[in-house]
Amino acid sequence: MQIFSTPAEMQAWSDARRTAGQRIGLVPTMGALHSGHLALIDDALTRTDQVVVSIFVNPLQFNEAADFDGYPRPIDDDVAACERAGVTAVFAPTAAAMYPAGFQTRVVPGPLGDVMEGPHRPGHFEGVVTVVAKLFGAVRPHVAVFGQKDYQQLRIITQLAADLEFGIEVVGHPIVRDLDGLARSSRNVRLTEAERSAAVAIPNALDAAIDAAVAGNVDDVVAAATSVLAAEPAATLEYVTVFDAVTLVELDDLTEIPHVRGVARIATAVWFGDVRLIDNRDLYER
Ligand code: PAJ
Repeated sequence: MQIFSTPAEMQAWSDARRTAGQRIGLVPTMGALHSGHLALIDDALTRTDQVVVSIFVNPLQFNEAADFDGYPRPIDDDVAACERAGVTAVFAPTAAAMYPAGFQTRVVPGPLGDVMEGPHRPGHFEGVVTVVAKLFGAVRPHVAVFGQKDYQQLRIITQLAADLEFGIEVVGHPIVRDLDGLARSSRNVRLTEAERSAAVAIPNALDAAIDAAVAGNVDDVVAAATSVLAAEPAATLEYVTVFDAVTLVELDDLTEIPHVRGVARIATAVWFGDVRLIDNRDLYER
């Protein structure tokens, strides 16, 4: 397995592979790899000949210095995990290599970036889209795999690839969860033991909402999720929202949509102490 630390090295490798007729898969990450990331890697391995994992804690997308500083960076473990998983190359650039003096361009998402996480994390998606555009340019993959865990991010990047003609197939992989239902996240390690136990309220809230969705009243769906989270003293709810799975527009009437998979989703952001967790589910996945 090779490790590259500059976009130029990465591009040279990628160009050689492309010339040899090979298909390249990319799994972009910020490291602290867990089974969610590994599932994305496995997915990419089934679709392409060579899989590249990028590991870069992107300063542009953090809107809180404490979150950026506290973000876990176990690079040696991550490299070993990539090697075990069958990855061919890791792209782990420094911030100086990605954003050298004089760097100034930003890629701005459209309306998909204005909802849900958008207003709560000013500048976040601009930072994500800018770095993903750079990762696409450095790695030049045929396929890029993202998790549905960050559903809004997945939608925004699918739109980015289409709008800017990257010629990259963007694949969305299902959410990987712990046994109790909590979505795997690099931020979970920052939870205390008590907070980790309490965080099961998130999948439980989404379960309750999905049960309520059968009757079709959106207020009842949101209330079902909210009451589960309100009953957990360690949880501070930021938002619960029901939205169109493609446009991300908030839905206020579920009687007007078909109750089938892929149409509507529910998402939430919840704080446990100083850790912010997000999750989402298909409202009619059952
Ligand atoms: P990061 O949070 O490291 O996540 C990398 C990828 O793993 C994302 O596509 C995310 O949705 C996916 N992922 C994380 N947890 C998952 C889980 N439990 N199940 C399935 N997929 C999961 O998302 C980012 O990094 C960054 O914003 C990035 C795209 C790398 C740009 O900096």
